[in-house]
Amino acid sequence: MHSLKTALITGGTGAIGKAIARLIAEKPGYEVIILARNPNKAEDTVDYLKNVTGNQQISYVLANLSEKEEIKKLAGLWDKPLHVLVNNAGVTPRRREETPEGIEMQWATNVLGYFRMMKYFIPHLKKSAPARIVNVASYWAGDLDMADPEFKYRHYNNNTAYRQSKQADRMLTVAFADMLKTHNITVNVCHPGDVRSRLSTDLGFGGHESPEEGADTPAWLATSPEVEGVTGKYFEHRHMTNCPFGQNKEQVEKLFELCDKY
Ligand SMILES: NC(=O)c1ccc[n+]([C@@H]2O[C@H](COP(=O)([O-])OP(=O)(O)OC[C@H]3O[C@@H](n4cnc5c(N)ncnc54)[C@H](OP(=O)(O)O)[C@@H]3O)[C@@H](O)[C@H]2O)c1
Repeated sequence: MHSLKTALITGGTGAIGKAIARLIAEKPGYEVIILARNPNKAEDTVDYLKNVTGNQQISYVLANLSEKEEIKKLAGLWDKPLHVLVNNAGVTPRRREETPEGIEMQWATNVLGYFRMMKYFIPHLKKSAPARIVNVASYWAGDLDMADPEFKYRHYNNNTAYRQSKQADRMLTVAFADMLKTHNITVNVCHPGDVRSRLSTDLGFGGHESPEEGADTPAWLATSPEVEGVTGKYFEHRHMTNCPFGQNKEQVEKLFELCDKY
């Protein structure tokens, strides 16, 4: 008999995150926990997922991922195994916003949120290894400026801030993959699909794929035996794809140190 595997998916109330949670919950042997910030949305999503999948091992936890203390607290209180962490939550506000800590919102959520979820959940993943981290990034990536990650000097444009955040997610994947490769924890990153959502609407494009199509690659990376042991790679539509951003190890290390200073 297989023991249950626990998967934690951030942004589980959003278009792609909900579909990732659904695809994983439909597989036998998975307990699914969505991470959300809005309790009403979280409850509705859990009800929906239980109904549609028939899996009753679905629940939620609450945290605002743009805030360091919330992630630290959640990880500190975590008392379950953790076999799969999917970092998927993201935002792209059209105007520059800051968190209560005074950090630009996309940098705080899309980059530091991913970084801190990996950093603070590593002890739990290690205990449950073999384990997997899947980072949902994008092909829409570039223009990272480590001298001005929060657009204090550059003119804020949500598209540019988004692209740099997704470049950073792809680079952080390589940093954590290297760090965790001797611990039987794989870390991979992907483009999901182009799906209509709050986020894609804020970026100004519609999205021609269904949420399930968008969720296919991340859910596959999270569960498939086909990618067992594969780590530090970037995928589009289940295909391992060359990623220039992860290749400059000096820059990858520099970004890791920058994120760790926050
Ligand atoms: N849609 C696309 O075409 C597309 C393409 C490429 C990559 N992606 C990537 O796919 C991922 C999911 O995007 P999506 O299109 O599904 O977006 P979405 O529908 O707007 O969902 C975003 C999710 O992130 C959550 N979230 C945002 N800020 C948070 C915070 N501070 N704390 C906790 N949760 C937070 C949202 O929670 P609430 O429900 O409470 O707002 C929501 O669940 C993102 O990483 C995005 O970059 C999307």
